[in-house]
Amino acid sequence: MPVDAKRSDLVLAVIGTGAMGRGIAQIAALGGIKVLLHDAKQGAADEASAFVCRMVDRLVEKGKLDDSAAGQAKDRLQVVSGVADLAPADVVVEAIVERLDIKQELFRELESVVRPDAILATNTSSLSVTAIAAACEHPERVAGFHFFNPVPLMKLVEVATAVRTADWAAEALVALAKRMGHTPVLCIDSPGFIVNHAGRGFGTEALRILGEGICETIDMDRVMRETAGFRMGPFELLDLTALDVSHNVMESIYDQYYQEPRFRPSFITRQRLAAGLLGRKVGEGFYRYPEGKPEQPAETPAPTAGNRAIWISKADADSHKAVTDMLSAAGAELDQGSTPAAESVCLVTPLGLDATSTALEQGLDPQRTVALDTLFDLGRRRTLMTTPVTLPDVRDAAHAALAKDGVPVTVIRDSAGFIAQRIVATIVNIGCDIAQQRIATPEDIETGVKLGLGYPHGPLGFGDTLGPKRILQILETMQSYYGDPRYRPSPWLKRRAMLGVSLTTPES
Ligand code: NAI
Repeated sequence: MPVDAKRSDLVLAVIGTGAMGRGIAQIAALGGIKVLLHDAKQGAADEASAFVCRMVDRLVEKGKLDDSAAGQAKDRLQVVSGVADLAPADVVVEAIVERLDIKQELFRELESVVRPDAILATNTSSLSVTAIAAACEHPERVAGFHFFNPVPLMKLVEVATAVRTADWAAEALVALAKRMGHTPVLCIDSPGFIVNHAGRGFGTEALRILGEGICETIDMDRVMRETAGFRMGPFELLDLTALDVSHNVMESIYDQYYQEPRFRPSFITRQRLAAGLLGRKVGEGFYRYPEGKPEQPAETPAPTAGNRAIWISKADADSHKAVTDMLSAAGAELDQGSTPAAESVCLVTPLGLDATSTALEQGLDPQRTVALDTLFDLGRRRTLMTTPVTLPDVRDAAHAALAKDGVPVTVIRDSAGFIAQRIVATIVNIGCDIAQQRIATPEDIETGVKLGLGYPHGPLGFGDTLGPKRILQILETMQSYYGDPRYRPSPWLKRRAMLGVSLTTPES
């Protein structure tokens, strides 16, 4: 009889009661499920059970739970001393050390204890669920059940189906996740599942920009927060997750996808990891953290306006109008001629292209050319880019004009795709390829990324908001500029952009 996750007498076993196991035990007990806790380390399961009880009490203190519900939840926790005591379990969730051989050995042992149709789930982040299941006589009842830290707050769980996982096992885990108050997303067992796969674009592209010497980390963090709407910039995030985790994840996913260029890591993080600059937890990463607070450089004040008028390229009619309206409202001096006057600043608004190529393509003087990123909202921060030969007073005149209404301006060196265009296009492209590979449905990709990574949109929704055709143009332009297959557009994106349909459109 396949497991019915809604049964009132359902028994869940949690093995490994560290950071993850105790969180899983907590949400299960609160979901009305009896939980057996086991840990190989003496006293660890008792300690975890006491911890969960304290967390449940805290919910009562905060008025989120009444006394009787809390008492019942605590009564559902039972510490057991050995794997042999887990026989009554309908579902086992393993959250032990991240080692394939040890997990395989445990699953083999579990099979000799639990009944043949009990579900064996693993919380692994980076191992192949299929490889863990391969150690079992009944691999059809093995699946991934990947939670996020801290479990009670991160309401997402990825249900990963291994090559031989039966539908009933995955369906039962989906139902179980809902019963525990979590949102399940279903995916094929593949490196990084949905969330850690979709998250490969943000940091790796930011590291490429850093590696090209285009700007400083703080510039990227500010631009990604304030123009693209991310809660944290890429380097703030790397400092939070710490390089001993994030650099290793970057390498591991890159290798597991056989050196897929879209996931290519950077030697910058490898060197910083070797130097011990792990991030916030050691007091120094890309930023220093005296007293736990990031020490970030102050905003560079805008220069005072020079005497050059601003001529705005008409190559993109929408951008021309938006920038003209914005600068006129701010009272900047504009050159409205059909071609720029001899002293005017030439302001261009490329998509995916650098300022140098844009100036040459449009027959403009590269010494007087600057580029503005118009893909994102211009109301909170603006990104201005120079060519290698832009005159300093031209750059300053453009900076002053763009900052005239009080909006800060980030000035960067030449980059095909500025900062936000190239990072967001990379994220959208990877999300599209997850859909293309049928790793998950568009809906689950969106849910996974929003809940698991906290991005302002899922990758497909991000692409739809900015326009699939524009994302495609950025990627194709970058690919031809760099000659790097990293930027090759996913067929999923290409086809939907050409058809003019949403990136969430599934195959009919
Ligand atoms: P942890 O180190 O906090 O806890 C692991 C626990 O497992 C320890 O209490 C340890 O004594 C116990 N243990 C080790 N080997 C055992 C065995 N053979 N039998 C029984 N107990 C054993 O580790 P954490 O962070 O809770 O991770 C557990 C699993 O969850 C790993 O597979 C990890 O990759 C995965 N995971 C971790 C996340 C995180 O952010 N920490 C997020 C998602 C998944």
